[in-house]
Amino acid sequence: MQTKIHNKFTELFGEGGQIYASAGRINLIGEHTDYNGGYVFPGAIDKCLMAEIKFNGTDRVRAYSIDIDEQVEFGLNEEDKPAQHWADYIFGVCRETIKRGGKVAGFDTVFAGNVPLGAGLSSSAALESCFAFAINEMNGNGLDSFELAKIGQSTEHNYCGVKCGIMDQFASCFGKKGSLIRLNCKTLEYKYFPFNPEGYRLVLIDTVVKHNLASSAYNKRRESCERAAAAIRKNHPEVEFLSDSKRVWLEEVRGEITEEDFLRAEYVIGEVQRVLDVCDALERGDYEIVGEMMYQTHFGMSKLYEVSCEELDWLAKLARKMDVTGCRVMGGGFGGCTINLIKEELYDAFINTAKIEYAKKFGHDCKVYDVVISDGAHRVC
Ligand code: GLA
Repeated sequence: MQTKIHNKFTELFGEGGQIYASAGRINLIGEHTDYNGGYVFPGAIDKCLMAEIKFNGTDRVRAYSIDIDEQVEFGLNEEDKPAQHWADYIFGVCRETIKRGGKVAGFDTVFAGNVPLGAGLSSSAALESCFAFAINEMNGNGLDSFELAKIGQSTEHNYCGVKCGIMDQFASCFGKKGSLIRLNCKTLEYKYFPFNPEGYRLVLIDTVVKHNLASSAYNKRRESCERAAAAIRKNHPEVEFLSDSKRVWLEEVRGEITEEDFLRAEYVIGEVQRVLDVCDALERGDYEIVGEMMYQTHFGMSKLYEVSCEELDWLAKLARKMDVTGCRVMGGGFGGCTINLIKEELYDAFINTAKIEYAKKFGHDCKVYDVVISDGAHRVC
């Protein structure tokens, strides 16, 4: 990938620049908890977005995407927002850096990635974090890694229309080889947990379906949670985020909020606790509990939060039937991947069956990704 990027860069822009990369992410557990002030438990993976970048002496950006095979040029003022959606991620990162007092000198860039798109592996956070990191370093802005993650998150909010939490950009900026990171999204305290489950493997199965309107459905989930938290707050002013609430406090307002909002909130409160339970279980090396919690999350995301789909539910059911230790929909949902924790000796049989039966059932192939927990945003050379 690096050679391909470099060759294209020299062809389009002459002498080469600096190369940066940032990773996609997995999340072991803790889904839709980030914007509710709860815990998440992600890690960066060995699939990344890589960019070669060089100042061009102007106040404009020229960006070429190898994967889309398109070049876009834009200025750095608010009114210069490009029409191409993919370029908005880079433009947004530039604008959010400037809003934070950072300098952004015009640059040329060529980039490519191997994070599968639409699979729930945060290819967009990889793109944002790569440019946030590179722009910060090349311009000597001195913003810290949290600020870089927030630049990516604000890019989603203000330029891409998704009111996401901080998890994806955090994982992409803070990722460390071999470790998952438990993040408290309210206080931003975090802790690295070495993750090397002996005798088990982590594998993702991509349904290769991505439902339209996923971003508006995502924003609607967030609104439900905010309404539930507001109702609870009337009785318990200490509830700043939904994750601050106890289950019984939610019960108190059951008659005041819609059943839909109630179910969404019920899921979130349970999920925050499951992250803590999984961390405890990991410290004891109890992977059976980790797996059981993953199935509980799947149930909640499917039946209470309603962000699963037929294909994901089918994969989770097959996993249960074949004694996979844990399986659940990963990321925002509405398509994308299941994440599976599986004993080594069951791996081949499960993957083969899943591939064959999935194709028979849905008329197209699923994809399988083995992931290695890797480093986040960094300079390659
Ligand atoms: C998407 C968002 C994240 C998070 C997850 C669900 O990946 O970008 O902030 O909310 O969905 O856990």
